[in-house]
Amino acid sequence: MNTSIKSALCVLAICLLFSCTDESKKNVALQPLIPQPDNVTLDSGSFILKSGSKIYFDGNQEIKGSADYLSNLLNPATDFDFEVIQSGSIKNKHFNLRLSPDKSDLGDEGYELEITRKRVVLTAYRSAGIFRGIQTIRQLLPPSIEQQGQYNEGLALPVIAIQDTPKYSYRGAMLDVSRHFFDVDEVKRYIDFLTLYKMNRLHLHLADDQGWRIEIKSWPNLTAHGGSTEVGGGTGGFYTQEQYKEIVQYASDRYITIIPEIDMPGHTNAALASYPELNCDGKAPELYTGTRVGFSSLCVDKELTYEFIDDVIREVAALTPGPYIHIGGDESHATEKADYLKFVNRVQGIVRSHGKEMIGWDETAQANLTSTSVTQLWANKEFALQAISKGAKLIMSPASRTYMDLKYDSTTVLGLTWAGYIEVDHGYSWDPAQYMEGVNEDNILGIEAPLWSETVTNMDEIEYMVFPRMPGYAELGWSGSGEWEAYRKRLPGHGVRWEVMDIDFYRSPKVDW
Ligand code: ACM
Repeated sequence: MNTSIKSALCVLAICLLFSCTDESKKNVALQPLIPQPDNVTLDSGSFILKSGSKIYFDGNQEIKGSADYLSNLLNPATDFDFEVIQSGSIKNKHFNLRLSPDKSDLGDEGYELEITRKRVVLTAYRSAGIFRGIQTIRQLLPPSIEQQGQYNEGLALPVIAIQDTPKYSYRGAMLDVSRHFFDVDEVKRYIDFLTLYKMNRLHLHLADDQGWRIEIKSWPNLTAHGGSTEVGGGTGGFYTQEQYKEIVQYASDRYITIIPEIDMPGHTNAALASYPELNCDGKAPELYTGTRVGFSSLCVDKELTYEFIDDVIREVAALTPGPYIHIGGDESHATEKADYLKFVNRVQGIVRSHGKEMIGWDETAQANLTSTSVTQLWANKEFALQAISKGAKLIMSPASRTYMDLKYDSTTVLGLTWAGYIEVDHGYSWDPAQYMEGVNEDNILGIEAPLWSETVTNMDEIEYMVFPRMPGYAELGWSGSGEWEAYRKRLPGHGVRWEVMDIDFYRSPKVDW
């Protein structure tokens, strides 16, 4: 716990002991917020959470889930029972969650939070805004809120008014579950990290040379054989369709959309090893557990290839409520360029025929993109320009800034170096809308930070590579850009929270933890 919070709580405790007249006159130190909200007005005094405080939500059932979420967050940490109750009117002494049809300027995810000595009122235009605002309430409470049974009395929120809307609608992270497999609980924990920082997209890299990780009922050997190993020769794994649905639901409960990626026509050795008929020569290669890229390709001249893709996209689309299917398309060095272009054009049509839009890595921008397709910039600025000339929007994931699998510096044991090192300040100190000539805010859907898993094998290692970088990407997505010096001062408070949450983070020397 940071010392200012400790002393604020001591004052509060003494106050309670000697029956001060009005404990809500006491100030509490402001916890650092990430992402930094647009408008914050701090005043003196506090709202004290008490046994008997309730969470009122207006008649809208959509936000009952968020009211329950807040109750489930506060109950274990306080030992109180924050009852969730429907009410048409705002109640003093309690939390009030409300949707307002007049607040369309808050958009889908914006919110207004007004905390006075008497009450908390969280207002949004849409239910996602209520959920994002709850994360602000969470961050305004001390880190000990993340742990069971820490404070039974005296938890306090500062008197504050916040109005806050995100700049970009796509604020995501990627997890590569192909190179090393991560199970449902691990993915849920990753989703918890995104949740705390108001991110709203989780891109799952579900198929690559080293493993096929999603059950496809019409092609069962993809997982039976293609999912049976991983980098280094471990046992791999895969999600059944039921498990994948469980992940989608867990994410959706937190207003996070899953973006499933089936990489093709390259990065397909696991599929080719599972079905000999997908290979041009009809022979299945061995499973692959190394880390080379660019050696595999689906057989682009075979009709069966497109029947296969149609089956896969149909099944994945049916399991995925979000609007996008990611088809990879990167590093297809084993596919002739003309074949590659024909392939991407055709697959774009397949994706659209199943009611989804296509996302592809930047190489796919060379094909005949529709303006509703999306290009994920990772390496090639020329391709990004081609995408926007076709009216497609960009997801900004330049490897040298956003790849969370790159080492922090030369001493980092895990990770890769091919696009340089990414210390926490380097990852944070850029503006997606200023990143390259010819691309401005209007061309950008948002930002995504990928975590590739060639070197990352378990949850502790995920945490070490993701923290402290990921909150910075969340802030860039929410605010557009930020001041490093101000941001670095907000990180230590989050470090305390990560300790409480048992997150094994990198203590960058750039930050005074
Ligand atoms: C990539 O890093 N190959 C998209």
